[in-house]
Amino acid sequence: MKPKILVARPIFESVLQKLAVSFEVTDNQIDHAWEPAEWARQLGQHDGTLTTGSDPVNALVLGPQPRLKIAANMAVGFNNFDVPAMTSAGVVASNTPDVLTETTADFGFALIMATARRMTESEHFLRAGLWKQWRYDMFAGAEVHGSTLGILGMGRIGQAIAKRAAHGFGMEVIYHNRSRLDADKEAQCKARFVDKQTLLQSADHLILVLPYSHASHHCIGAAELAQMKPTATLINIARGGIVDDAALAQALLEKRIAGAGLDVYEGEPSVHPELLKLPNVVLTPHIASATVKTRLAMADLAADNIIAFFSRGHALTPLNTVAAGRA
Ligand code: GLV
Repeated sequence: MKPKILVARPIFESVLQKLAVSFEVTDNQIDHAWEPAEWARQLGQHDGTLTTGSDPVNALVLGPQPRLKIAANMAVGFNNFDVPAMTSAGVVASNTPDVLTETTADFGFALIMATARRMTESEHFLRAGLWKQWRYDMFAGAEVHGSTLGILGMGRIGQAIAKRAAHGFGMEVIYHNRSRLDADKEAQCKARFVDKQTLLQSADHLILVLPYSHASHHCIGAAELAQMKPTATLINIARGGIVDDAALAQALLEKRIAGAGLDVYEGEPSVHPELLKLPNVVLTPHIASATVKTRLAMADLAADNIIAFFSRGHALTPLNTVAAGRA
């Protein structure tokens, strides 16, 4: 009997075909997320699952003695997984690191540029037929080259952004992270470690690239926004919940910071209604890794994690270690 694999959301046909060689696959090619009870029921009938970052895997959906042996997330972030609960239940967790680093860094830079240079705001103005003449101050924004970029969270994506900023745009790069990079990596990124307060106060553009956890919940809220320069921009490509979106909307409304570029939101796909009304914010629907090539690489790696687990007993990019014997 082939193991049964549940693919939680629509995915590339080639990835389904690859899985179908070794597994009995249940797909969900319609763009419709299962309700929590249906999701838990489906998980209970499968040996492995390929999830997106929106599909929870935790004690509640797994139950006490799950049939499930592996959940392979098609994302580098994994705050949808309760990894300790999965480990206790003997479920391997995996994610898709590395394959999306450069693409996501590109997008982070695109959001910095779009926000600082007011690209969507000016496009709406043009499309609305409001452009009557050239004006010296029309959509004058903030300088990007030569300015100071603050990076909160200095993992692979943070470092890739730092390299673009320092080498491509002549920016001064400062960062804050739980742990400081070693000297070689700091030199490659031309980045200087600072405390969080200095980061907030000195950055012309502050980009968030840290993982979501209880510790990082609302780590940018009213108090932190108050420390930023009134000319600064805030960019979030990390996870919703890291920023207090209500506090951000208020700060933008009161022009306490100049602008924000957001790809992720608290409670997405809902977006705080006040953010939707503001002109000085660029909003994208969680697409930082969305190039065809990178999304295919992510889906392939997630599928390869499942294939490796069932054929060789271990995932390629696991997040936990589970006692042997369940494969
Ligand atoms: C996307 O948000 C990811 O974590 O890969």
